Amino acid sequence: MAKTRYEHRCSACDATTPRWEGRCPNCGEWNSLVEQVVADVRGAAPAANSDAVQLASIDPSAGNARPTGVSEFDRTLSGGLVPGSVTLIGGEPGIGKSTLLLQVASALSRTDRRVLIASAEESAEQISRRAQRLGVAANAITICTSSSLAEVLAVVASVKPELLIVDSIQTIADPEISGSAGSVSQVRECAAQLVSYAKTSGVAVVLIGHVTKEGSLAGPRLLEHLVDTVCSFEGDRHHALRVLSVVKHRFGPAGELGVFEMTAEGLKGVADPSALFLADRQPGVAGSVVVPILEGHRALLVELQTLVTPAVFGTPRRSAEGVAAGRLALILAVLEQRVGVLAGSLDVFASVVGGVHIQEPGADLALGLALASAVTGVPIDPLTVASGEVGLAGEVRQVVHSERRLQEAARRGFRRAIVPMTGPEAPNGIELIRVATLAEAVQALGLRTRERAS
Ligand code: TYD
Ligand code: MG
Repeated sequence: MAKTRYEHRCSACDATTPRWEGRCPNCGEWNSLVEQVVADVRGAAPAANSDAVQLASIDPSAGNARPTGVSEFDRTLSGGLVPGSVTLIGGEPGIGKSTLLLQVASALSRTDRRVLIASAEESAEQISRRAQRLGVAANAITICTSSSLAEVLAVVASVKPELLIVDSIQTIADPEISGSAGSVSQVRECAAQLVSYAKTSGVAVVLIGHVTKEGSLAGPRLLEHLVDTVCSFEGDRHHALRVLSVVKHRFGPAGELGVFEMTAEGLKGVADPSALFLADRQPGVAGSVVVPILEGHRALLVELQTLVTPAVFGTPRRSAEGVAAGRLALILAVLEQRVGVLAGSLDVFASVVGGVHIQEPGADLALGLALASAVTGVPIDPLTVASGEVGLAGEVRQVVHSERRLQEAARRGFRRAIVPMTGPEAPNGIELIRVATLAEAVQALGLRTRERAS
């Protein structure tokens, strides 16, 4: 056996260093270096398990996604799970990952498609109790609570399921590899073995992975390049809303979104997310505006809220939840330099209601207007939406699929939309206010701009 050599690998950025250090020299993350074995302790040469084949001889339909029957889950994955694929579902503990996958297993089981749940995290009784509470169809579900990868693979070989769910990748270990379950080397190696198993057997595999708020735990981050699909299951543990989004997808577009509500009977798909996102809205409060955003193929209406208060200490705070911090800084700079709305000495808080993360520039205009409204204290008319990208010169630019966004706004009863000069006609029931600049939009809404501070 080769002599064992160690290195230290960063669980955040995957860089390696020969020595342990408190801070990763590559990405600067603290306490992220984890010791792992470099030498191949198993010493086995890789087996040649795939021969070269003619591309034309492969049946492309074999790789088609198969619906599971949980419609929001299938929508997010553009149709369902692909045989032989590996999907990683990451999320904070307690968010509902095990519940979601038990419901997926149940839906498959209803049509007699076999599912194996390898759960080292919970006992079979716990799972059975939850299954009973959820009214799960369990006739085709097998549970294996071993934490040994070899044992799990042995059970898989005898059960021959269509889907293997591993809950979670951090609690499973291969005794031939050093380190306890959850260490970087175990997580990586177990996942690699499961990936190669999925590819050779055609079994769809779903790996559940825990991430902490900082996303720093060994696991999901390390595996992104190994697996075919990476989903993130998010939401506020204290609120019922859960959003499943696709970060990476080899079989369809990323950016699709499934919306669920956690109820006493498990997760329920939300067919009309805009209604839910806007449900508890307080109209007539300064600093808030509704923005139509595009998530995958769907337009959704979400409320963007901002609040400003005089900064107490030195540097004013900038807090952004659901919008990129860089975007917030840019819009504040444009407001100050091009519009004359000054927030330089104010603490600024911006947040998107419902735990949604806006990842496109289409919400710039809305963010600018919400901030102008917060600074001036003038509320924005509650039946108005705003959609457009803002450039550094303060100009408002067109965004993709404006039509779809405006239609969603019209469907939800909105009356007015602030949009760029170019772009599609208004759908029925919506009056368009076309603006060339953020300053024009601020004026059009009567958000009086203050004189520049002297
Ligand atoms: P769980 O699926 O165990 O989370 P994870 O696997 O991501 O750690 O879900 C945990 C939470 O979900 C738990 O706090 C209770 C809540 N829950 C419900 O509200 N309703 C339900 O029907 C179920 C099964 C769970
Ligand atoms: Mg769980």
